[in-house]
Amino acid sequence: MFGFESLLPRPVEVVPAPGSCVWPVDVVVRRSTEQPAEGYRLEITPDSVTIDCSDDAGEFYARQTLRQLRGPGAFRTVSSGQSTLPCGVVTDYPRFSWRGCLLDVARNFRTKAEVLRFVDLLAAHKLNVLNLHLTDDQGWRIEIPRFPRLTEVGSWRTGSMVGRHDGPERDGRPHGGFYTVDDLREIVAYAAERAVTVVPEIDIPGHARAAIAAYPELGPGEPYEVWTSWGISTSLLNTEESTVDFFRAVFDQVLEIFPSPIIGLGGDEVPGATEKHGWFVRQIVEHLHSRGRKALCWDEVLEIGELPHPVVIGSWRGEEAGVWAVKDGHQVVMCPEQYVYLDHRQSDHPGEPIPVGYLHTLEDVYAYEPVPEGMPDTTGLLGTQAQVWTEHLDSVRRVDYASFPRLSAFAEVAWTPAALRDYTEFLPRLREHHLPRLDALGVEYRPLDGPHPWQTRPGVPGRKR
Ligand code: ACM
Repeated sequence: MFGFESLLPRPVEVVPAPGSCVWPVDVVVRRSTEQPAEGYRLEITPDSVTIDCSDDAGEFYARQTLRQLRGPGAFRTVSSGQSTLPCGVVTDYPRFSWRGCLLDVARNFRTKAEVLRFVDLLAAHKLNVLNLHLTDDQGWRIEIPRFPRLTEVGSWRTGSMVGRHDGPERDGRPHGGFYTVDDLREIVAYAAERAVTVVPEIDIPGHARAAIAAYPELGPGEPYEVWTSWGISTSLLNTEESTVDFFRAVFDQVLEIFPSPIIGLGGDEVPGATEKHGWFVRQIVEHLHSRGRKALCWDEVLEIGELPHPVVIGSWRGEEAGVWAVKDGHQVVMCPEQYVYLDHRQSDHPGEPIPVGYLHTLEDVYAYEPVPEGMPDTTGLLGTQAQVWTEHLDSVRRVDYASFPRLSAFAEVAWTPAALRDYTEFLPRLREHHLPRLDALGVEYRPLDGPHPWQTRPGVPGRKR
């Protein structure tokens, strides 16, 4: 029988009791202000299951815990989970309120069905934010009815770079796709049913070449194609008032689709940024604020001058920006590339496919501590987020490989108190209890001892750091 020792992320407290309960049984749900936000108390007796929670998320997580206790069969679309549950009481709540994962659907498009599946996988891990990176130099993925060329032109490119960033080779294979307004509303609603908030990101004023390809008047002057290279493009949005107006209208459409109180505007990697680019970003921060929302910005925006309002900083280039931002009165999501970039290589195994970035083993991700040294207090620290950039992940199978099981380790970092985290205990729990759940879900994760032969990409050069 799968017992409490199998749960992932590890719960705050478990008090086992003798006996077992035969499933299915009616689940009694009681709302109680005694439970913290997203928390729950789950009591299983020989003839009853009771959930106490203060909100829908708490009930959802209690039901995920029950699902895990029913074994891997409960993760199949036609459930074949075990019919007995262990008796006892689980008292549980998350360490952080922002337990996120970024999915880049701009570099390599993922279909709506694949995004919904990714939401399911986040929810099964008690992660609660999907930061959807919708626009970049290589593709614009969100329908904006007022500006149809954004998707007519901006959602397609003629080919893609494969592997390293410094060669002339392209695959010569057109790539594209976008989500309609209705698709995105569906994703938002589906995620909400699973306690996941979709935080969209429209990247400005860099990483915007797909928009410039669609509407050249937004750019530096000359015509551009949607970019077929990876890397940091130097073609930036210009800082004309009309360009700011254009993006105010784009963000207004974004706000109509996404109820998230926090909306991403990018702000990262703006080579040769001028004072006016800082001004551009501040205009959009201001605009979101005037509409009752808050901007999520990458940490570079701390360098562009005073921001008009507190924002949420994604501390990605390291941990210092996060510490500094909290001191400066902003909120922070810790997502440093040195620890939680899941597109980065998982090992120095010779078969590791397209090995890029820093070495982030499963153990490294598990060891990540989101409260950095020097953080003055944690009131501004919303939580932490793993990042799945997709330059080198050109299929859902590649996304599975890069994400799992490291995202399972990350889920425990984001949920479980640091004092309860122990890799020597986690690893056998993952191997014996959680990988079978991922198998049942059909997730093509990286095996612990290295890739399957069909998961390698011989001959495609990486870019290690
Ligand atoms: C980032 O990785 N450019 C946020």
